[in-house]
Amino acid sequence: MIRFDYNYFMDEHIGAEHGIGLSELEGVKGRAAAALARMEKERASGSLGFLGLPYDAKLVRDIKKFRSSTGSKFDSVAVIGIGGSALGAQALRASLAHLYLNELDKKKRAGACRTYFFDNVDPFEITSLGDVMDIKKTLFVVISKSGGTTETNANYAILLERLKKTVGKKFREHIVAITDPAKGVLRKISAQEDLATFPVPSNVGGRFSVLSAVGLLPAAFMGIDIAGLLRGARAGLERYYGKPLMENAPLLSAAFHYLFDTRRGKRISVLMPYTRKLFLFSDWYRQLWAESLGKNTNIHGAPTVAGLTPVPALGTIDQHSQAQLYLEGPNDKVITFLKLENFGRDVKIPDFYRGNPELDYISRKSLRALNGFEESATELALKMASRPSASIILPRLDSATVGEFIMFMELQTAYAGYLYDINPYDQPAVEQGKHFTFGLLSRPGYEKFRDAFEKEYKKSANFVL
Ligand code: PA5
Repeated sequence: MIRFDYNYFMDEHIGAEHGIGLSELEGVKGRAAAALARMEKERASGSLGFLGLPYDAKLVRDIKKFRSSTGSKFDSVAVIGIGGSALGAQALRASLAHLYLNELDKKKRAGACRTYFFDNVDPFEITSLGDVMDIKKTLFVVISKSGGTTETNANYAILLERLKKTVGKKFREHIVAITDPAKGVLRKISAQEDLATFPVPSNVGGRFSVLSAVGLLPAAFMGIDIAGLLRGARAGLERYYGKPLMENAPLLSAAFHYLFDTRRGKRISVLMPYTRKLFLFSDWYRQLWAESLGKNTNIHGAPTVAGLTPVPALGTIDQHSQAQLYLEGPNDKVITFLKLENFGRDVKIPDFYRGNPELDYISRKSLRALNGFEESATELALKMASRPSASIILPRLDSATVGEFIMFMELQTAYAGYLYDINPYDQPAVEQGKHFTFGLLSRPGYEKFRDAFEKEYKKSANFVL
């Protein structure tokens, strides 16, 4: 089971100027209770689909059936999607499949497919990935809840043309689309082409969709235990759902962030694992947290300023990088370590030029122990500098633990949105950038955005050196 250690968030450890006291937690209990009530109300109204995903045993069966129906036909998977339609699967690959899955030969992969992600508009990336992929042995997984995402459709168009050139009429067998069950152009063209499809339930938002087919289907092809993911998420949900503040770790963590922001002026939230296996979860969390909480209007229509800026960090690397700023720069950050207790492996550092006192102290030590010492040393240095930090402790790296962790972070984000009194499930500001892009691409209906762009996008040569 995951544990949340918030010792160094507390005033008794880091002082009252920067730490939070029990009385402040007491003071936020009313708001926390309102957050729980709002979640229950929204869940009961059917709008919080992410809370139902852990119970979808049929989806797991359908994905497994689809996976086995493809036999040994595919050796790699190309995921085409962006944001919530790509980041979760990337984090699952890093945490639960081999860290360098794509570099392993077939035998060592033991049935798991190489997985490539097309989640950007970048001619370098798409041509380079095109160079390493064997299209004949690739399943293309097109993921877009809306079906209308420009980046995804551009990449799909390019890859579909290559696929058709390579396999001809058999291209349909190489594609599975994951999209809204009824709406959108991807659903429409998939039906026209008679493609295999899986749904993204309409009440599940993109960034909350990793436990739907969006994350589970690619994960199944990576050899990940998808039933275990849902089992862990279920355990997390049942452990936390509806529990009061002091018994509900995701709610408590959300409340700390809310208090650090609104009472202590700390506007940056750092997520820092000490293993690369969990680093892409910092990326996933960055999107989940930023898109959910960065809102300027509350649910009553009043102006507000919500959301700490999420920053990914990786130990031990960032001890030689961002840690200097964390320790001596502005005291405006809330740091959460992601601690993995049992790495399930260790490496002994061999004797190394013995006789040199600068080197002797590392000889015959364990690499895992060194990792742990570095993490504790950073925690203590932060504590001594009165910088708040907490740890989410993962006992081991397996599907169930990762599933519980995903649910923890999703609940934490939703609760934080409720504490700020905002809607954590929309992203109105992102839409504006999309509309200007549509205008620039001359999409019918978006002429006014093109006109507005031409009027507003002015720059003076005086300010370019
Ligand atoms: O969280 C979200 O809703 C977004 O980040 C989406 O996941 C992202 O914009 C991709 O959208 P879609 O799946 O509709 O292509």
